[in-house]
Amino acid sequence: MTSNELRQKFLDFFEEKGHKVISSSSLIPDNDPTVLFTTAGMQQFKPFYAEPDKAPYASVASVQKCLRTSDIEEVGDDTHLTFFEMLGNFSFGYPEKKDSYFKKEAISFAWEFLTGKLKVDKSRIYATYFKGEKGIPEDKESLEILKKIKDLKKIEPQGFEDNFWSLGTEGSPGGPTVEFYIDGIEIWNLVFNEYSLQKGKYEPLKHKGVDTGMGLERLLTTLNGHKDVYETDLCLPLIEKIEEISGKKYKENENLFRIICDHIKTAVFAVNDGILPSNKEAGYVVRRIIRRAIVKGHQLGINKNFTSDFVDIVSAIYKETYKIQADKVKKELESEEERFRKTLKMGLAQFNKTIQNYRDSKGEKVSELYTGEAYEFEEILPGKVIFDLYQTYGFPIELTKELAQEKELDVDEKGFQEEFKKHQDLSRTASAGMFKGGLADSGDPQVVKYHTAAHLLLAALQEVLGEHVHQKGSNLTADRLRLDFSHPEKLTDEERQKVEDWVNDKIEKKLEVHLDECDLETAKSKGAEGEFTEKYGDKVKVYSIGGDLSSKEAVSKEICGGPHVENTGELGHFRIKNETSSSKGVRRIKATLE
Ligand code: GLY
Repeated sequence: MTSNELRQKFLDFFEEKGHKVISSSSLIPDNDPTVLFTTAGMQQFKPFYAEPDKAPYASVASVQKCLRTSDIEEVGDDTHLTFFEMLGNFSFGYPEKKDSYFKKEAISFAWEFLTGKLKVDKSRIYATYFKGEKGIPEDKESLEILKKIKDLKKIEPQGFEDNFWSLGTEGSPGGPTVEFYIDGIEIWNLVFNEYSLQKGKYEPLKHKGVDTGMGLERLLTTLNGHKDVYETDLCLPLIEKIEEISGKKYKENENLFRIICDHIKTAVFAVNDGILPSNKEAGYVVRRIIRRAIVKGHQLGINKNFTSDFVDIVSAIYKETYKIQADKVKKELESEEERFRKTLKMGLAQFNKTIQNYRDSKGEKVSELYTGEAYEFEEILPGKVIFDLYQTYGFPIELTKELAQEKELDVDEKGFQEEFKKHQDLSRTASAGMFKGGLADSGDPQVVKYHTAAHLLLAALQEVLGEHVHQKGSNLTADRLRLDFSHPEKLTDEERQKVEDWVNDKIEKKLEVHLDECDLETAKSKGAEGEFTEKYGDKVKVYSIGGDLSSKEAVSKEICGGPHVENTGELGHFRIKNETSSSKGVRRIKATLE
């Protein structure tokens, strides 16, 4: 069976059963700041579980593109992917809403589809259900329904970890699940949404709903008797292309091939949906995924740009289902790869230098590294060095390990993990003061402060110099901010002082920073500043200081992805370090917070 046939069979089946077929939504979740990506079919229907009256249909079915990074370490095995498609059927507002359904129908649809439509031998199938745990009762209703299926050979009780599902974010629906397995592999997850996660507790939902998810790639693998997902028509052409580009054999490098295949596909879909590689939030995850693919390529011996060579293949694989804007995606991948290869090159040079320095200083270090065996000394690359390579040059530990091996060095993985953890703790402290939307990883606390200070600076310049001032560029580090803005001449000493005083005044006033989300037109009409040369999505985030987007009191309103501090009182004293020309008609200010 082909992937196209399987998608169609699934949708046709549920259409016959009275479902409205809905197309896949974007990988960028619509209006849900609690998640970075669409990770499940239910994402686009999430609000309907709590408010079924808003659902245009009581039952729907879809094939949804998903991006999940929670299992990224597992990618390379037979079944895990970061990009996959989820077949799902959903129902809302049971029992009040006409044509809604719940456990009995959902379980019998699943059984009928697997054994009737797909003709899977009944003896290969078994099911699990929720046995009750963490104060949530056993799902007896599902058990009774399952028991009535004559040819179901086994029903296994499972706990919360396995048979309870929710997105896990505040306000998301969740509930006990029934899962169908084929040949011992989990195929279909039927979630019965009876609860909602409220302040960390699962509270009963007034309306009940159904949310099911079945991975297309996994199901296809099972039906076709493939060994793993990479043998399906959704992956194989990519694997073949990697063989062609690298001149290496898949069978001898399975893990590297699989990761490259998965990650490049993920990148193509993410960029296609407008998630461009960047240093924050979803864009940062996409950047990491692309870079990881390049590093794996490097380990395979590919030393030229190659990621964009896969775009046409991905496009061909999915041509009946999704439209890939090949030119746009290629351009993005090429520029990201170009940029990263420079870093990679510098990183490699740095790596060699580090090793050399380390070896030069070996005489002193030997005693520390003494392993206890007489006259045998071991060379170990310290965790701090590995972490610096990771932090500064984006070198994942696998790459460092690989390079170290070539030089007959061991790496102190434990030390690296410790450094890593230290850093994570720091970023966590930073995110604690952030908005929910800043779920991202970008959070060096100092950079976040400079980000807010940059907004204040721009507003101050407009105040002091005039409305013609707009941002032309910015760059933030943990040590300073740099802002480029339109203005024809050098600031006078007096102007410079006024700008500085204006910003410090707003800091001293301890103004709150508000986040609003709306469409671009609304943002503009309410006076939000933005670099309108950029493309924005349907919804934009606007950060306002000292009032929200609608208020007249706000001293700054800017379209921006964040993150920001919650209150300007956190910033410290603002000082302009210098003011220079950047290009014709554009001035540049560097400033610090002290
Ligand atoms: N929403 C069900 C699943 O992801 O398995």
